[in-house]
Amino acid sequence: MAVSRLLLPFLLLAVASGAYDGDGQPPISRRSFPEGFIFGTSSASYQYEGGVMEGGRGPSIWDTFTHQHPDKIIDRSNGDVAVDSYHLYKEDVRLMKDMGMDAYRFSISWTRILPNGSMSGGVDREGVRYYNNLIDELLLKGVQPFVTLFHWDSPQVLEDKYGGFLSPNIINDYKDYAEVCFKEFGDRVKHWITFNEPGGFCSGGYASGVLAPGRCSPWEQGKCSAGDSGTEPYTVCHHQLLAHAETVRLYKEKYQAIQKGKIGISLVSLWFLPSSPSKCNDNAVRRALDFTFGWFMDPLVKGDYPLSMKGLVGNRLPQFTKQQSETIKGAFDFIGLNYYTTYYASSANNLPPNGLNKSYNTDSRANLSGVRNGVPIGPQAGSPWLYMYPRGFRELLLYVKENYGNPAIYITENGFDEANNMSLPLHEALKDDTRIEYHHKHLLALHSAIRDGANVKGYFAWSLLDNFEWAYGYTVRFGLNFVDYNDGLKRYPKNSAHWFKEFLHK
Ligand SMILES: *[C@@H]1O[C@H](CO)[C@@H](O)[C@H](O)[C@H]1NC(C)=O
Ligand SMILES: *[C@@H]1O[C@H](CO)[C@@H](O)[C@H](O)[C@H]1NC(C)=O
Ligand SMILES: *[C@@H]1O[C@H](CO)[C@@H](O)[C@H](O)[C@H]1NC(C)=O
Ligand SMILES: *[C@@H]1O[C@H](CO)[C@@H](O)[C@H](O)[C@H]1NC(C)=O
Repeated sequence: MAVSRLLLPFLLLAVASGAYDGDGQPPISRRSFPEGFIFGTSSASYQYEGGVMEGGRGPSIWDTFTHQHPDKIIDRSNGDVAVDSYHLYKEDVRLMKDMGMDAYRFSISWTRILPNGSMSGGVDREGVRYYNNLIDELLLKGVQPFVTLFHWDSPQVLEDKYGGFLSPNIINDYKDYAEVCFKEFGDRVKHWITFNEPGGFCSGGYASGVLAPGRCSPWEQGKCSAGDSGTEPYTVCHHQLLAHAETVRLYKEKYQAIQKGKIGISLVSLWFLPSSPSKCNDNAVRRALDFTFGWFMDPLVKGDYPLSMKGLVGNRLPQFTKQQSETIKGAFDFIGLNYYTTYYASSANNLPPNGLNKSYNTDSRANLSGVRNGVPIGPQAGSPWLYMYPRGFRELLLYVKENYGNPAIYITENGFDEANNMSLPLHEALKDDTRIEYHHKHLLALHSAIRDGANVKGYFAWSLLDNFEWAYGYTVRFGLNFVDYNDGLKRYPKNSAHWFKEFLHK
């Protein structure tokens, strides 16, 4: 963008009082946010750690999925090595410290702690030692650990034994696993997240079948050999909600008074705009929100699923007993919110009632798309599903405030990726100006929502490093820091890492 002479004095002022992204945005810095507001980066065990054979770690469904179905990963890759945070964690903590980050959100690999998924198979001390080392290194450098207990890598042994999250048996095994973590790490970990994006796990793993464990109806996108896209996503997420509620109760009854931590869950939601102004499309927007976000928020705040889901899914949607409903209602200290993008929604009520072919993907009767009349809703990222639309972030936060009693929120993910172009020279690959624009605009939108009363306490960028992006493998890069996959996984700060350093400067 050409900068006119007249603008120059304003720009100099902007640089002096905050981080400026070169795109005419008002300046912003950590000083714009409330006292005690936390900034951090996010990661997940399978996407980062590698070291799958280290210690006594047991296999997870992601090991099985990537090795049995390499065709389901664009570049046929897997997380066997990932970005090797299992060995390089000290360097990773140094990168956070260099940027001036206050916190790090990472997940614990269930099968590093309990190789067979349940207590009967024993606790692996090497796994416990790895997370002790990571937590201690973080605290030594003044970075607070935010720990996700489950980020999609469930134990393969439990999958084989009783179908994993398809069975209510998982609730006790999950709770036992969580309790080991509270006992081993709770003296130092003050923020726990029970589940990451249950909606993403259930729709990707059981409706479309494009994520582990790769189950779906045969006519769905993943063309799975087993599954039922019309029932399993609801069953699996029902069990995750129950496991969440039981675990929160355990933490509150047994650990919270002594350890003085907080516990919550991370949910993902898009924002939606009506594709054209009409009552029908407004209703489609509401249904789309109910099926992605209300699916969890309604039980957590009101004790039951949204009316729209009960009506449209009928007896395929499990029910809460009165007692379960009471346990789940209010079972959180904070809500983690992952926001990436906004889509248009239009009513799909005109489609033929899809007789036999029931799927979570069509139950909401909302047609969703990031593109309207051939025009994308915002600049497109490396991932084809991701468009930049910062205003949706503000709208979603105000929607949560208005509809769910203004809970305490941590933004546990927000980010933008670029395609991995292996022939791009390193110094070019570090120029991620669109990512800077994305974070700058989303931080402005967040700031505006907070000013209007949204109760947000922290913001985590996805992601600290480039990493294994599930079905996209290593074809896209979400990191503030570059990982050189051709040269020993060396890390290099991208321009966005420098931008954050300036933004965070105290
Ligand atoms: C762990 O699971 C494997 C596979 O099911 C089994 O062979 C092994 O005996 C189990 N180990 C323990 C200690 O339960
Ligand atoms: C519905 O399912 C049948 C078989 O179960 C399949 O042949 C058909 O293609 C499916 N229709 C759609 C729209 O996916
Ligand atoms: C869904 O929406 C897109 C874009 O708004 C449109 O092109 C498409 O025809 C719609 N599909 C249905 C089935 O309504
Ligand atoms: C990758 O980078 C090279 C070198 O700059 C460039 O010529 C090429 O067009 C890029 N490829 C894509 C798909 O962007």
